[in-house]
Amino acid sequence: MPDVYWLEQTEEDVPLEDDWLSASEAACLGGMRFAKRRADWRLGRWTAKRALAVCLSVTGDPEFLARIEIRAAASGAPQVFWNNQPTAFNISLSHRAGMAMCALAGSNVLLGCDLEVVEARSDSFLSDYFTRKEREWIAQAAPVARSYLLTLLWSAKESALKALHVGLRLDTREVVVAVAKPFMREKSGAQWSPLQVRYKDEDLLEGWWQRSNNFIRTIVAVPAPWPPLLLEIPATAIAV
Ligand SMILES: CC(C)(COP(=O)(O)OP(=O)(O)OC[C@H]1O[C@@H](n2cnc3c(N)ncnc32)[C@H](O)[C@@H]1OP(=O)(O)O)[C@@H](O)C(=O)NCCC(=O)NCCS
Repeated sequence: MPDVYWLEQTEEDVPLEDDWLSASEAACLGGMRFAKRRADWRLGRWTAKRALAVCLSVTGDPEFLARIEIRAAASGAPQVFWNNQPTAFNISLSHRAGMAMCALAGSNVLLGCDLEVVEARSDSFLSDYFTRKEREWIAQAAPVARSYLLTLLWSAKESALKALHVGLRLDTREVVVAVAKPFMREKSGAQWSPLQVRYKDEDLLEGWWQRSNNFIRTIVAVPAPWPPLLLEIPATAIAV
């Protein structure tokens, strides 16, 4: 079973300058028209680079961070380069509400992560994106737990779509989520609980979910991973 690592950063963690971006990343940022997209993209890149710096054993100095490059594949999936060379790492990114999450594993691991704010969704959202069984499950949940369950299932689907490198090009009803007793551990914020996602009734993606405050995080991988390990940024590596 592979190890999977994760790190989260907030918008406040991201420096105002762009000297931690590579030249081509800076050019990519320069082509983005919308402020929210720019902010999300910078936050995702920052979070990934901080995580990768730990794994590459370099400091968070802008000079090193600029040599770590996150390029988007044709699918939109992030790919990691160090000094212009592919690395032995796979990452997955998610940004939401001023926070970004990066999951990281070896390049032989299919990996997807997703960060979601717990919120109610419309009936049309449910019928468009969830299977009949998932909708029944959500309807049967206690009213207080309904938004959590819905968000958890949605996040797990998005993680799986990222691990499969397809994103929302795939019908989300083709990835079916199974979670054991999702809300028995209401108070165990930092704990990861197991989940499974089945794709086209065949492939099984396994992973973990965690709830803290109003956020749900999910990580799925193939092969099935150990519970995710939070990366610690060494104090000496603080660049900001
Ligand atoms: C992937 C997707 C499901 C994520 O949706 P989301 O919840 O809105 O956004 P999140 O913040 O959780 O995740 C976004 C990140 O997912 C990653 N991502 C995007 N497409 C991906 C894919 N096909 N596979 C794996 N990861 C992908 C990217 O790193 C992206 O962040 P970045 O663009 O800043 O690098 C959705 O954006 C999607 O389907 N995108 C592809 C749509 C498309 O057809 N794009 C045109 C070609 S690129």
